[in-house]
Amino acid sequence: MAKKKDDYKGYDISTRAVHTGNGYDQETGAVRRPLHMANSYKLPDDLSTVNYSSTDLLIYARNGNPNQQWLEEKVASMHDADDCIMLGSGVAALHALFWTLFESGDHVVYPNVSYMAVYRLLHELFNNKYKVDTEIVDMTDLDAVKKAVTPGTKLVHIETPDNPTCGITDIAAVAEIAHANGALLSVDNTFASPLAQKPLELGADFVIESVTKFMNGHGDAQGGAIISNDLETMDRIRYEAQVNVGSVISPFNSWQIFRGMVTFPLRTQRIFDTAQTVAEWLEQRENVTYVSYPGLPSNPGHEVAKKQMKNGFGGVISFVLNTDDKTVEKFCAALKVITFAVSLGHDESLIFPQPSYDERMYLYPDVFNPGFVRFSIGLESPQDIIDDLAQALKSVGL
Ligand SMILES: Cc1ncc(COP(=O)(O)O)c(C=O)c1O
Repeated sequence: MAKKKDDYKGYDISTRAVHTGNGYDQETGAVRRPLHMANSYKLPDDLSTVNYSSTDLLIYARNGNPNQQWLEEKVASMHDADDCIMLGSGVAALHALFWTLFESGDHVVYPNVSYMAVYRLLHELFNNKYKVDTEIVDMTDLDAVKKAVTPGTKLVHIETPDNPTCGITDIAAVAEIAHANGALLSVDNTFASPLAQKPLELGADFVIESVTKFMNGHGDAQGGAIISNDLETMDRIRYEAQVNVGSVISPFNSWQIFRGMVTFPLRTQRIFDTAQTVAEWLEQRENVTYVSYPGLPSNPGHEVAKKQMKNGFGGVISFVLNTDDKTVEKFCAALKVITFAVSLGHDESLIFPQPSYDERMYLYPDVFNPGFVRFSIGLESPQDIIDDLAQALKSVGL
Protein backbone atom coordinates (compact mmCIF):
# COMPACT_ATOMS: atom_id res chain seq x y z
CA MET A 1 0.00 0.00 0.00
CA ALA A 2 1.38 3.41 -0.91
CA LYS A 3 1.51 6.46 1.34
CA LYS A 4 -1.84 8.23 1.81
CA LYS A 5 -2.34 11.16 -0.54
CA ASP A 6 -2.55 14.62 1.07
CA ASP A 7 -2.87 17.52 -1.34
CA TYR A 8 -3.08 19.92 1.62
CA LYS A 9 0.15 18.96 3.41
CA GLY A 10 1.57 21.99 5.18
CA TYR A 11 -1.80 23.71 5.55
CA ASP A 12 -3.39 24.41 8.94
CA ILE A 13 -5.33 21.56 10.59
CA SER A 14 -8.64 23.41 10.06
CA THR A 15 -8.02 23.67 6.30
CA ARG A 16 -6.99 20.02 6.10
CA ALA A 17 -10.06 18.91 8.08
CA VAL A 18 -12.22 20.56 5.41
CA HIS A 19 -10.35 19.58 2.25
CA THR A 20 -8.17 16.48 2.64
CA GLY A 21 -9.92 13.39 1.26
CA ASN A 22 -12.63 15.45 -0.44
CA GLY A 23 -13.02 15.62 -4.23
CA TYR A 24 -15.47 16.08 -7.07
CA ASP A 25 -17.71 13.14 -7.89
CA GLN A 26 -16.60 11.94 -11.35
CA GLU A 27 -20.10 11.10 -12.57
CA THR A 28 -22.10 14.10 -11.34
CA GLY A 29 -19.61 16.84 -10.49
CA ALA A 30 -21.00 16.97 -6.92
CA VAL A 31 -18.57 18.76 -4.58
CA ARG A 32 -19.04 16.25 -1.78
CA ARG A 33 -18.02 12.60 -1.63
CA PRO A 34 -20.97 10.27 -2.36
CA LEU A 35 -21.89 7.39 -0.06
CA HIS A 36 -21.03 4.06 -1.72
CA MET A 37 -23.04 1.35 0.00
CA ALA A 38 -22.06 -1.39 -2.51
CA ASN A 39 -20.42 -4.35 -0.85
CA SER A 40 -19.12 -5.84 -4.12
CA TYR A 41 -17.12 -4.34 -7.00
CA LYS A 42 -16.60 -5.25 -10.65
CA LEU A 43 -13.66 -7.62 -11.00
CA PRO A 44 -10.94 -7.20 -13.65
CA ASP A 45 -11.24 -9.49 -16.71
CA ASP A 46 -7.92 -11.15 -15.86
CA LEU A 47 -8.10 -12.60 -12.32
CA SER A 48 -4.57 -14.01 -12.27
CA THR A 49 -3.15 -11.14 -10.17
CA VAL A 50 -6.08 -10.67 -7.76
CA ASN A 51 -5.24 -11.29 -4.09
CA TYR A 52 -8.55 -11.75 -2.24
CA SER A 53 -6.99 -10.95 1.16
CA SER A 54 -5.49 -7.68 -0.01
CA THR A 55 -6.90 -4.17 0.23
CA ASP A 56 -5.17 -2.88 -2.92
CA LEU A 57 -8.17 -3.44 -5.16
CA LEU A 58 -11.82 -2.64 -4.46
CA ILE A 59 -13.26 -6.16 -4.55
CA TYR A 60 -15.57 -6.49 -1.59
CA ALA A 61 -16.44 -3.97 1.18
CA ARG A 62 -14.40 -5.87 3.81
CA ASN A 63 -11.28 -5.40 1.65
CA GLY A 64 -11.93 -1.68 1.66
CA ASN A 65 -14.56 0.72 0.45
CA PRO A 66 -14.19 4.21 -1.05
CA ASN A 67 -15.74 6.00 1.95
CA GLN A 68 -13.33 4.23 4.28
CA GLN A 69 -10.37 5.19 2.09
CA TRP A 70 -11.33 8.88 1.83
CA LEU A 71 -11.74 8.99 5.60
CA GLU A 72 -8.33 7.35 6.02
CA GLU A 73 -6.76 10.18 4.01
CA LYS A 74 -8.38 12.79 6.26
CA VAL A 75 -7.44 11.09 9.54
CA ALA A 76 -3.83 10.41 8.42
CA SER A 77 -3.60 14.11 7.52
CA MET A 78 -4.63 15.15 11.06
CA HIS A 79 -1.48 13.38 12.32
CA ASP A 80 0.78 14.32 9.38
CA ALA A 81 1.13 10.56 8.93
CA ASP A 82 1.82 8.37 5.93
CA ASP A 83 -0.95 5.89 6.64
CA CYS A 84 -4.18 5.25 8.53
CA ILE A 85 -6.46 2.22 8.78
CA MET A 86 -10.09 2.85 9.66
CA LEU A 87 -11.86 0.05 11.51
CA GLY A 88 -15.29 -0.43 13.06
CA SER A 89 -14.49 1.03 16.51
CA GLY A 90 -11.66 2.22 18.71
CA VAL A 91 -11.61 -1.20 20.36
CA ALA A 92 -11.38 -2.90 16.95
CA ALA A 93 -8.33 -0.69 16.24
CA LEU A 94 -6.69 -1.65 19.55
CA HIS A 95 -7.43 -5.33 18.93
CA ALA A 96 -6.17 -5.18 15.33
CA LEU A 97 -2.83 -3.73 16.42
CA PHE A 98 -2.36 -6.21 19.29
CA TRP A 99 -3.58 -9.19 17.24
CA THR A 100 -1.18 -8.43 14.40
CA LEU A 101 1.88 -7.72 16.56
CA PHE A 102 1.70 -10.35 19.31
CA GLU A 103 2.73 -13.97 19.41
CA SER A 104 2.45 -16.30 22.41
CA GLY A 105 5.22 -15.57 24.89
CA ASP A 106 5.69 -11.92 23.84
CA HIS A 107 6.13 -9.38 26.64
CA VAL A 108 3.88 -6.30 26.59
CA VAL A 109 3.89 -3.40 29.04
CA TYR A 110 0.73 -1.32 29.53
CA PRO A 111 -0.63 1.23 32.01
CA ASN A 112 -2.37 0.82 35.36
CA VAL A 113 -4.93 3.36 34.15
CA SER A 114 -6.39 2.83 30.70
CA TYR A 115 -9.67 2.44 28.89
CA MET A 116 -11.46 -0.65 30.24
CA ALA A 117 -11.27 -2.62 26.97
CA VAL A 118 -7.46 -2.34 26.97
CA TYR A 119 -7.44 -4.03 30.35
CA ARG A 120 -9.89 -6.69 29.12
CA LEU A 121 -7.90 -7.31 25.92
CA LEU A 122 -4.46 -7.47 27.53
CA HIS A 123 -5.05 -8.62 31.10
CA GLU A 124 -7.66 -11.21 30.18
CA LEU A 125 -7.88 -12.14 26.48
CA PHE A 126 -4.30 -11.98 25.23
CA ASN A 127 -2.87 -13.11 28.54
CA ASN A 128 -5.22 -15.98 29.36
CA LYS A 129 -6.07 -17.19 25.90
CA TYR A 130 -2.92 -16.56 23.89
CA LYS A 131 -0.28 -16.61 26.67
CA VAL A 132 1.03 -13.13 25.95
CA ASP A 133 2.97 -11.90 28.98
CA THR A 134 1.22 -8.61 29.85
CA GLU A 135 2.61 -6.39 32.59
CA ILE A 136 0.85 -3.45 34.25
CA VAL A 137 3.02 -0.41 35.02
CA ASP A 138 2.41 3.09 36.39
CA MET A 139 3.44 5.03 33.27
CA THR A 140 3.71 8.31 35.18
CA ASP A 141 6.69 6.75 37.01
CA LEU A 142 9.52 6.61 34.46
CA ASP A 143 11.75 4.56 36.80
CA ALA A 144 9.03 1.91 36.95
CA VAL A 145 8.79 1.97 33.13
CA LYS A 146 12.58 1.56 32.84
CA LYS A 147 12.45 -1.45 35.15
CA ALA A 148 9.58 -3.11 33.32
CA VAL A 149 10.76 -2.68 29.72
CA THR A 150 13.50 -5.15 28.77
CA PRO A 151 15.18 -6.15 25.48
CA GLY A 152 12.51 -8.88 25.22
CA THR A 153 9.58 -6.43 25.28
CA LYS A 154 7.55 -6.34 22.05
CA LEU A 155 5.25 -3.37 22.72
CA VAL A 156 4.75 -0.57 25.23
CA HIS A 157 1.18 0.71 25.08
CA ILE A 158 0.20 4.01 26.72
CA GLU A 159 -2.79 6.31 26.95
CA THR A 160 -2.42 10.05 27.61
CA PRO A 161 -4.44 11.75 29.01
CA ASP A 162 -5.69 8.45 30.38
CA ASN A 163 -9.23 7.22 30.74
CA PRO A 164 -10.64 7.75 33.35
CA THR A 165 -8.25 9.67 35.64
CA CYS A 166 -6.81 12.15 33.05
CA GLY A 167 -3.26 11.27 34.15
CA ILE A 168 -0.41 12.29 31.82
CA THR A 169 2.38 10.08 30.46
CA ASP A 170 5.53 11.59 28.95
CA ILE A 171 5.35 10.22 25.39
CA ALA A 172 8.88 11.19 24.30
CA ALA A 173 10.45 9.74 27.47
CA VAL A 174 8.57 6.43 27.15
CA ALA A 175 9.40 6.26 23.41
CA GLU A 176 13.07 6.56 24.28
CA ILE A 177 12.86 3.74 26.86
CA ALA A 178 10.89 1.51 24.47
CA HIS A 179 13.20 2.07 21.50
CA ALA A 180 16.37 1.63 23.58
CA ASN A 181 15.06 -1.88 24.27
CA GLY A 182 13.95 -2.62 20.72
CA ALA A 183 10.25 -2.35 21.65
CA LEU A 184 7.53 -0.51 19.73
CA LEU A 185 5.37 2.22 21.28
CA SER A 186 1.64 2.64 20.70
CA VAL A 187 -0.25 5.64 22.09
CA ASP A 188 -4.02 5.84 22.54
CA ASN A 189 -4.61 9.51 21.71
CA THR A 190 -8.40 9.51 22.09
CA PHE A 191 -8.59 11.95 25.05
CA ALA A 192 -6.26 14.48 23.39
CA SER A 193 -7.21 14.08 19.71
CA PRO A 194 -4.78 15.34 17.04
CA LEU A 195 -5.80 18.93 17.76
CA ALA A 196 -3.84 18.71 21.01
CA GLN A 197 -1.28 15.99 20.46
CA LYS A 198 0.56 14.16 17.67
CA PRO A 199 2.37 11.19 19.24
CA LEU A 200 4.17 10.17 16.01
CA GLU A 201 6.09 13.46 16.21
CA LEU A 202 7.10 12.56 19.78
CA GLY A 203 8.50 9.15 18.84
CA ALA A 204 5.48 6.82 18.90
CA ASP A 205 5.26 4.05 16.28
CA PHE A 206 1.46 3.70 16.28
CA VAL A 207 -1.39 5.96 17.31
CA ILE A 208 -4.87 4.74 18.18
CA GLU A 209 -7.86 7.07 17.96
CA SER A 210 -11.44 6.25 18.81
CA VAL A 211 -12.89 8.56 16.15
CA THR A 212 -16.28 7.81 17.71
CA LYS A 213 -15.31 10.67 20.02
CA PHE A 214 -13.97 14.15 19.07
CA MET A 215 -13.37 13.53 15.37
CA ASN A 216 -16.91 12.37 14.59
CA GLY A 217 -18.12 14.59 17.39
CA HIS A 218 -21.87 14.18 17.01
CA GLY A 219 -22.52 11.01 19.00
CA ASP A 220 -23.97 9.18 16.00
CA ALA A 221 -21.27 6.95 14.50
CA GLN A 222 -18.55 4.56 15.62
CA GLY A 223 -15.05 4.10 14.24
CA GLY A 224 -11.44 3.56 15.23
CA ALA A 225 -8.15 4.45 13.57
CA ILE A 226 -4.61 3.11 13.59
CA ILE A 227 -2.20 5.78 12.36
CA SER A 228 1.46 5.11 11.56
CA ASN A 229 4.38 5.70 9.21
CA ASP A 230 5.33 1.99 9.32
CA LEU A 231 3.78 1.00 5.98
CA GLU A 232 4.88 -2.61 6.17
CA THR A 233 3.23 -3.33 9.52
CA MET A 234 0.17 -1.36 8.45
CA ASP A 235 -0.23 -3.69 5.46
CA ARG A 236 0.01 -6.70 7.77
CA ILE A 237 -2.73 -5.17 9.95
CA ARG A 238 -4.92 -4.71 6.87
CA TYR A 239 -4.40 -8.29 5.78
CA GLU A 240 -4.59 -10.01 9.18
CA ALA A 241 -7.09 -7.89 11.09
CA GLN A 242 -9.18 -5.94 8.59
CA VAL A 243 -9.75 -8.49 5.83
CA ASN A 244 -9.29 -11.80 7.62
CA VAL A 245 -10.73 -10.93 11.04
CA GLY A 246 -13.26 -8.58 9.47
CA SER A 247 -13.15 -5.48 11.65
CA VAL A 248 -13.59 -3.01 8.77
CA ILE A 249 -15.67 0.15 9.21
CA SER A 250 -18.94 0.41 7.24
CA PRO A 251 -19.31 2.89 4.36
CA PHE A 252 -22.09 4.73 6.20
CA ASN A 253 -20.10 5.19 9.41
CA SER A 254 -17.14 6.35 7.31
CA TRP A 255 -19.32 8.88 5.49
CA GLN A 256 -20.80 10.19 8.77
CA ILE A 257 -17.38 10.57 10.41
CA PHE A 258 -15.90 12.19 7.27
CA ARG A 259 -18.68 14.78 7.48
CA GLY A 260 -18.28 15.27 11.24
CA MET A 261 -14.55 15.81 10.82
CA VAL A 262 -14.96 18.92 8.70
CA THR A 263 -15.71 20.86 11.91
CA PHE A 264 -13.49 18.77 14.20
CA PRO A 265 -10.83 21.46 14.93
CA LEU A 266 -13.45 24.20 15.42
CA ARG A 267 -15.68 22.17 17.75
CA THR A 268 -12.82 20.64 19.68
CA GLN A 269 -11.08 23.98 20.29
CA ARG A 270 -14.30 25.28 21.82
CA ILE A 271 -14.57 22.14 23.99
CA PHE A 272 -10.96 22.48 25.21
CA ASP A 273 -11.50 26.16 26.10
CA THR A 274 -14.69 25.39 28.01
CA ALA A 275 -13.01 22.44 29.78
CA GLN A 276 -10.29 24.77 31.12
CA THR A 277 -12.90 27.24 32.42
CA VAL A 278 -15.04 24.52 34.01
CA ALA A 279 -12.03 22.74 35.58
CA GLU A 280 -10.93 26.02 37.19
CA TRP A 281 -14.46 26.57 38.50
CA LEU A 282 -14.72 23.01 39.87
CA GLU A 283 -11.39 23.39 41.66
CA GLN A 284 -12.86 26.25 43.72
CA ARG A 285 -15.84 24.20 44.98
CA GLU A 286 -15.74 23.21 48.64
CA ASN A 287 -17.23 19.73 48.17
CA VAL A 288 -15.14 18.88 45.12
CA THR A 289 -12.16 17.26 46.81
CA TYR A 290 -10.04 16.72 43.69
CA VAL A 291 -10.05 17.88 40.06
CA SER A 292 -7.84 16.12 37.53
CA TYR A 293 -7.44 18.18 34.38
CA PRO A 294 -4.03 18.49 32.67
CA GLY A 295 -4.57 22.22 32.13
CA LEU A 296 -4.58 22.92 35.88
CA PRO A 297 -1.19 23.82 37.42
CA SER A 298 -2.20 21.57 40.37
CA ASN A 299 -2.20 18.52 38.07
CA PRO A 300 0.90 16.31 38.58
CA GLY A 301 1.17 15.95 34.79
CA HIS A 302 0.78 19.68 34.00
CA GLU A 303 4.41 20.38 33.06
CA VAL A 304 4.64 17.31 30.78
CA ALA A 305 1.23 18.18 29.29
CA LYS A 306 2.46 21.72 28.50
CA LYS A 307 5.43 20.18 26.71
CA GLN A 308 3.56 17.67 24.57
CA MET A 309 0.06 19.16 24.09
CA LYS A 310 -1.00 22.29 22.22
CA ASN A 311 -4.23 24.23 21.69
CA GLY A 312 -5.46 23.09 25.11
CA PHE A 313 -5.51 20.07 27.38
CA GLY A 314 -8.39 17.92 26.23
CA GLY A 315 -12.13 17.89 26.75
CA VAL A 316 -12.44 15.52 29.70
CA ILE A 317 -12.26 16.45 33.38
CA SER A 318 -12.16 13.88 36.19
CA PHE A 319 -13.31 15.07 39.58
CA VAL A 320 -14.11 13.71 43.01
CA LEU A 321 -17.09 14.66 45.16
CA ASN A 322 -16.97 14.54 48.92
CA THR A 323 -19.66 11.85 49.08
CA ASP A 324 -20.60 8.19 48.41
CA ASP A 325 -21.48 6.28 45.20
CA LYS A 326 -25.25 6.67 45.61
CA THR A 327 -25.06 10.47 46.00
CA VAL A 328 -22.76 10.70 42.97
CA GLU A 329 -25.45 8.91 40.97
CA LYS A 330 -28.12 11.30 42.28
CA PHE A 331 -25.92 14.27 41.36
CA CYS A 332 -25.53 12.96 37.78
CA ALA A 333 -29.26 12.30 37.49
CA ALA A 334 -30.07 15.83 38.71
CA LEU A 335 -28.20 17.50 35.83
CA LYS A 336 -30.39 19.11 33.17
CA VAL A 337 -27.97 20.37 30.50
CA ILE A 338 -25.31 17.70 30.97
CA THR A 339 -26.39 14.20 29.87
CA PHE A 340 -25.97 11.22 32.20
CA ALA A 341 -24.37 8.78 29.71
CA VAL A 342 -21.07 7.10 28.76
CA SER A 343 -18.73 8.26 25.97
CA LEU A 344 -16.95 11.55 25.38
CA GLY A 345 -16.06 14.13 22.74
CA HIS A 346 -19.68 14.60 21.65
CA ASP A 347 -21.50 17.83 20.90
CA GLU A 348 -23.37 17.45 24.21
CA SER A 349 -21.68 17.24 27.62
CA LEU A 350 -21.69 13.73 29.06
CA ILE A 351 -21.15 12.63 32.64
CA PHE A 352 -20.48 9.19 34.02
CA PRO A 353 -19.77 8.09 37.63
CA GLN A 354 -16.86 5.73 38.29
CA PRO A 355 -18.17 3.65 41.20
CA SER A 356 -15.85 2.53 43.99
CA TYR A 357 -16.71 -1.11 43.19
CA ASP A 358 -14.98 -0.79 39.77
CA GLU A 359 -12.64 -3.82 39.83
CA ARG A 360 -9.67 -1.68 38.80
CA MET A 361 -10.11 1.02 41.45
CA TYR A 362 -7.14 -0.46 43.35
CA LEU A 363 -4.94 0.44 40.37
CA TYR A 364 -5.90 4.15 40.40
CA PRO A 365 -4.35 6.81 42.65
CA ASP A 366 -6.13 6.72 46.08
CA VAL A 367 -7.48 10.25 45.69
CA PHE A 368 -10.11 8.97 43.20
CA ASN A 369 -11.98 6.77 45.66
CA PRO A 370 -14.86 7.31 46.50
CA GLY A 371 -16.96 9.98 44.71
CA PHE A 372 -15.23 9.78 41.30
CA VAL A 373 -16.91 11.27 38.20
CA ARG A 374 -15.73 11.45 34.58
CA PHE A 375 -17.03 14.49 32.77
CA SER A 376 -16.81 15.10 29.02
CA ILE A 377 -17.36 18.73 28.04
CA GLY A 378 -19.64 19.56 25.11
CA LEU A 379 -20.54 22.58 23.02
CA GLU A 380 -23.11 24.12 25.37
CA SER A 381 -22.39 27.59 26.79
CA PRO A 382 -19.72 27.42 29.53
CA GLN A 383 -21.98 29.38 31.88
CA ASP A 384 -24.91 26.98 31.34
CA ILE A 385 -22.60 24.03 32.11
CA ILE A 386 -21.36 25.72 35.31
CA ASP A 387 -24.89 26.67 36.38
CA ASP A 388 -26.06 23.10 35.78
CA LEU A 389 -23.23 21.66 37.90
CA ALA A 390 -24.00 24.19 40.65
CA GLN A 391 -27.72 23.36 40.78
CA ALA A 392 -27.08 19.60 40.80
CA LEU A 393 -24.47 19.93 43.59
CA LYS A 394 -26.97 21.97 45.61
CA SER A 395 -29.77 19.47 44.98
CA VAL A 396 -27.74 16.67 46.65
CA GLY A 397 -26.60 18.89 49.53
CA LEU A 398 -23.04 19.50 48.27
C1 LIG B 1 -9.15 6.03 25.49
C2 LIG B 1 -10.12 5.19 24.70
N1 LIG B 1 -9.66 4.32 23.80
C3 LIG B 1 -10.48 3.53 23.08
C4 LIG B 1 -11.85 3.59 23.26
C5 LIG B 1 -12.73 2.67 22.47
O1 LIG B 1 -13.37 3.33 21.44
P1 LIG B 1 -14.74 2.78 20.79
O2 LIG B 1 -15.80 3.03 21.81
O3 LIG B 1 -14.88 3.58 19.55
O4 LIG B 1 -14.55 1.32 20.54
C6 LIG B 1 -12.38 4.48 24.18
C7 LIG B 1 -13.84 4.55 24.40
O5 LIG B 1 -14.32 5.22 25.30
C8 LIG B 1 -11.50 5.30 24.93
O6 LIG B 1 -11.95 6.18 25.85
